[in-house]
Amino acid sequence: MPEKTTVSVIKADVGGFVGHCTSHPKLVEKAKEEIAKAKKEGLLTDFCVLTCGDDLELIMTHTHGTGYDKVHALAWNIFLKCTEVAKQLKLYGAGQDLLSDAFSGNVKGLGPGVAEMEFAERKSEPVLVFMADKTSPGAWNLPVYKMFADPFNTPGLVIDPAAHGGFTFEILDVEENKTIKLNTPEESYDVLLFLGSIDRFMVKAVYRRSDGEIAAVASTDKLSHIAGQYVGKDDPVLVVRSQAGFPAVGEVIEPFAFPHLVEGWTRGSHHGPLVPVKFDDARPTRFDGPPRVICAGFQINNGVLEGPVDFFSDPAYDLARTRAWKVADYMRQHGPFQPHRLSLDAMEYTTLPKVMEKLKGRFVSGSNGSHSKTVKTAAAKTTTATKR
Ligand code: 13P
Ligand code: 13P
Ligand code: MG
Ligand code: MG
Repeated sequence: MPEKTTVSVIKADVGGFVGHCTSHPKLVEKAKEEIAKAKKEGLLTDFCVLTCGDDLELIMTHTHGTGYDKVHALAWNIFLKCTEVAKQLKLYGAGQDLLSDAFSGNVKGLGPGVAEMEFAERKSEPVLVFMADKTSPGAWNLPVYKMFADPFNTPGLVIDPAAHGGFTFEILDVEENKTIKLNTPEESYDVLLFLGSIDRFMVKAVYRRSDGEIAAVASTDKLSHIAGQYVGKDDPVLVVRSQAGFPAVGEVIEPFAFPHLVEGWTRGSHHGPLVPVKFDDARPTRFDGPPRVICAGFQINNGVLEGPVDFFSDPAYDLARTRAWKVADYMRQHGPFQPHRLSLDAMEYTTLPKVMEKLKGRFVSGSNGSHSKTVKTAAAKTTTATKR
């Protein structure tokens, strides 16, 4: 049996340049220097360091399986060392995503985002890594549904016998910390029931039903749930295997031709379009956004990352970008109003409840007739919106 390959993508925002816009070259340099040592020492087979906005993305291959402590320790130590660089340069939010100093073998739950998968390499192994900034893991729900369950996006579901049996979606309820597995096509309405709620349910992984092979895996870490307050958005990553029984490369990237609305943008508190951009344009500026996504494609060759191909540098995505800039402009005109700004529930972890708390005593009961109930504030965790 040939040795299996593990792809580990571990990312964190350890300091923005300028503000939350992009990553300082010195920070990237440090990450590359440290990760190269680990390759030399034989821990990693290969690596690729990229950035998306202010997020540092470590794409690593090795043979140790998912959740391997030494690989997690490597990523954690790189983030710590880069935080030192960020502090020296007084970059914004140095160490932002490192929410705990209690590392004990796995970065999960400590702040960084993680997406890992292990597989026996096929004769040819195309893998695509998506990285987003100024958004949250719910941003993957719509595109992943389209890739693996919508035949209008992926004709392979109809015409490829290896994909025709459908896919299993593993979905996480971030509030309850529970997962559910649902099979498409027959349970696709159930999948949509959950994935449509981008603020609570997140696609965690996708498996091919015919043989249980891993097809996709996403980071689902919610920083606000770990920290108990808003510290930055959970800018997510997604790894997708492609071709030969999985969606073709073109089918994997096709959903991003529609710049759908996601949570994030300024202060992580707004809805805006997810814009597919080339690597160099992953620099959210207008109103700290709009949210960006990049896609790095690799042919994995015995663990070696042949690539990356910068998929969204294709002018074929110009139309999506033009649409996105227009949608961003339209959304911006709502100012502090919903649905541009997130709902009160979603604002619970931001600084907004503090402002509401201050005004709590100013409400007068019974102002809408005798039947009206006392208005509770978001600070009290119950909003009028949730009662509907
Ligand atoms: P080629 O004929 O260029 O190999 O493409 C095949 C394919 O299935 C593309 O989706
Ligand atoms: P990041 O999550 O990318 O750090 O952005 C945070 C923010 O508040 C931007 O306005
Ligand atoms: Mg930041
Ligand atoms: Mg970020």
